[in-house]
Amino acid sequence: METILELKNISKSYSGITVLDNVSVGLEKGEVLCLVGENGAGKSTMIKIMAGVIAPDKAGAITAFGNSYDRLYPRQAKDLGIAAIYQDIDLVDNLTVADNIFLGGELKKKNGLIDTKTQEKISDELLHRLKISKIKGEMILSDLSTAQKQCVQIVKALKDEAKVLILDEPTASLGDEETRILLDMVTTLAKSGMGIIYISHYIDELFKVGSRLMILKDGRMVDIKKVSETNAEEVIHAMIGRDTGSFYFREYFPLGEGALEIRNFSQKKTVHDVSLTIRQGEVFGLGGLVGAGRTELIRMIYGCDKNRYGMVILNGRDITPKNPRDAIKKGIFMIFEDRKRDGLFTLRSVKENITVSANEKKEFIDLKKETKTVENSIKKFGIKMSGQETEVVNLSGGNQQKTLIARCVLDPGTLYIFDEPTKGVDIGAKEEIYKHILDLAKAGKYIILVSSDMPELISMSDHIGIMREGRLVGIVPAKDATESELMRKYLGF
Ligand SMILES: Nc1ncnc2c1ncn2[C@@H]1O[C@H](COP(=O)(O)OP(=O)(O)OP(=O)(O)O)[C@@H](O)[C@H]1O
Ligand SMILES: [Mg+2]
Repeated sequence: METILELKNISKSYSGITVLDNVSVGLEKGEVLCLVGENGAGKSTMIKIMAGVIAPDKAGAITAFGNSYDRLYPRQAKDLGIAAIYQDIDLVDNLTVADNIFLGGELKKKNGLIDTKTQEKISDELLHRLKISKIKGEMILSDLSTAQKQCVQIVKALKDEAKVLILDEPTASLGDEETRILLDMVTTLAKSGMGIIYISHYIDELFKVGSRLMILKDGRMVDIKKVSETNAEEVIHAMIGRDTGSFYFREYFPLGEGALEIRNFSQKKTVHDVSLTIRQGEVFGLGGLVGAGRTELIRMIYGCDKNRYGMVILNGRDITPKNPRDAIKKGIFMIFEDRKRDGLFTLRSVKENITVSANEKKEFIDLKKETKTVENSIKKFGIKMSGQETEVVNLSGGNQQKTLIARCVLDPGTLYIFDEPTKGVDIGAKEEIYKHILDLAKAGKYIILVSSDMPELISMSDHIGIMREGRLVGIVPAKDATESELMRKYLGF
């Protein structure tokens, strides 16, 4: 075995708080080293040190391909063949796919201009090699789904012929089929000799692709094991200190009298005449493959996007929002999937982010009370940070998601739309979020839950609406739904 990248006694602290504590680990050629741990455990920090994005505290060393360093710098890491793909998509929306792939290393023509044609050709070849046929180099990035953008990021890493590939929750926004393709890709790349570091909150994935599993807790490595010598229960236990299954056993309660109607929603190519009724206190799940039109539908319900048709009727009263601002006024809230773009003010504090919409309606803000409320939210959701004034940008991915949900729960509304609410959230915190969604339901709210996580959809919903190619093709009671039955319906056979 050949160790290609190694951390020796690496620590990292921020203003006195240790987030990575004396970690030593080596990555071998051709292996997939998986990293697991709760939100805030230090996973992203560790890989950012490997990629040279952040400097570790002085003391330890990083050895890469036989040479030892105090720290790496991004450019240096890249030249060594270390490529990292981070949790949040890090591409430029108004450039083409090819421009994004070549960003920072543009191919130039003799006259100094960018050689767009060749860039697109090479991009297409790379995409083809990875069997991604739907994306073309000439496409504008903003027209791509989150999943497709994720693929572009991987292609970008491959272009540089990386020897080490680091993936931070790559499947968080992918559907089942795309996840399968990605996992195959990872296996193939490892077989070809690449060393891969793989972070995911989906434990079953780790057992599919992993060679070894490293468990981080509060910045410390608590265990490292061959995947063949451990199992999911053991890993979860080491990670959060208690057992939990993939299915959540929710409480069911009688539904209320009220009804909320989604009536005749259409948008040119993406959504075709979708109507459904949600009963008061009901969690209405929306399932389907990526691209089935779920995101488009809920965005319309929230008043986003022009050129849409459809009405939202609450107990006979028209509450169709004109735009998202109007939606919030009418008590319709959306917890977006892409928390960075659509939800959080990342340069503001945790406190401001939690209270922003609740405060918008108040004339006076009781500061003492506010601090107390925020304190409660932080405790309830277990948001890990150094204080209420911490800027959201400094939180780990999962803790950002918890912050966003804490905000929405604080604000009294009618309809709550959750788009992949537990994406990037660790398995322990998931249950916390589920409890809050159910609290809302219990309080007589209406809930729409979009989720690609089938156990989540089945265990949380009352009914599941199935979308395929922009149409609502069926509604099933969640209680007797199974994963295989749903998948068949998603695919249409
Ligand atoms: N720039 C920073 N300033 C202060 N604290 C930070 C900063 N960056 C990260 N942290 C803290 O370091 C801890 C570890 O964060 P990290 O992003 O490594 O967690 P993670 O294991 O990747 O979690 P997740 O599963 O939620 O992505 C967190 O508590 C986070 O708030
Ligand atoms: Mg992270």
